[in-house]
Amino acid sequence: MVTDPLDFHLAVERAEQLPRPLTESIFRRFYAEFGLEEGKTARADWRILAWSGEALVGHVGIVERTITVGGNPYEVGGIAALVVQAEWRGRGLGRALMLCVEDVLHDETAAAYGHLICEPDRVGFYAGLGWQEIGAPMVFTAWDGQQITIGHRIMILPIRGEPWPDGPIDANGLMW
Ligand SMILES: CC(C)(COP(=O)(O)OP(=O)(O)OC[C@H]1O[C@@H](n2cnc3c(N)ncnc32)[C@H](O)[C@@H]1OP(=O)(O)O)[C@@H](O)C(=O)NCCC(=O)NCCS
Repeated sequence: MVTDPLDFHLAVERAEQLPRPLTESIFRRFYAEFGLEEGKTARADWRILAWSGEALVGHVGIVERTITVGGNPYEVGGIAALVVQAEWRGRGLGRALMLCVEDVLHDETAAAYGHLICEPDRVGFYAGLGWQEIGAPMVFTAWDGQQITIGHRIMILPIRGEPWPDGPIDANGLMW
C-alpha cells in the first residue's frame, strides 16, 4: 500500500549500463502496457526509474535520434514507455518523471526538442507540462520494416527555446 505520495526517488540511468534482468523486467512491466516487446521499438539511451524503496514503480525511456523535419536534420529525444504503476497514479509521479526528462534532455543530450506519440486521452497530461500537439505527418519504421505514417497525436517540447520547424517528419528509424 502506498502511504506517502512523496515516498519515491528517481534514478537517471544510461540504459546500456542497467543489469539485464532489470531491463527485461522493464519491458515486461512497462512496455507491455503498449503491447511493445524488446526489439520492436527503438533502443533507449536513457531510462529514468522511479523507486519506492526496492520497488520499481515508474519508468520512462529516452531515445536520442536525429530526425528530419521538412528535409532538415534536428536532434530530438524520443520519449518511450512512460508508465506509472497503477496504484501510484495521480500522486505526481508521472509529472516528476517528465520534468526529469526535460532536465536530462537539456543537460545530457543535444536534443532541441522532446518528441512523443501520445495516447488520445493523455494529451491533457502532457499539455499541462508544456508539450505541444503538432499536426504534421510523421513517417517511422515498424519493427517488420514497414514504413508507417501518422498525422496526429504527436507532441513536442522545445528544450532550447526554438519553435518547432514546419514540414513532414521522418523519424529515421524505429519509433520510441
Ligand atoms: C499517464 C501517467 C503516466 C500519468 O502519471 P501520474 O503519476 O498518474 O500523473 P501525475 O499524478 O503526475 O499527474 C500530473 C498532472 O496531470 C494530470 N493528469 C494525469 N493524467 C491525466 C490525463 N490522462 N489527462 C489529463 N490530465 C492528466 C493530473 O491531474 C495532474 O494535474 P495537476 O498537476 O493539475 O494535479 C499514468 O496515468 C500512466 O502510467 N498511465 C498508463 C500509461 C500511459 O498512458 N502512459 C502515457 C502514454 S502516452
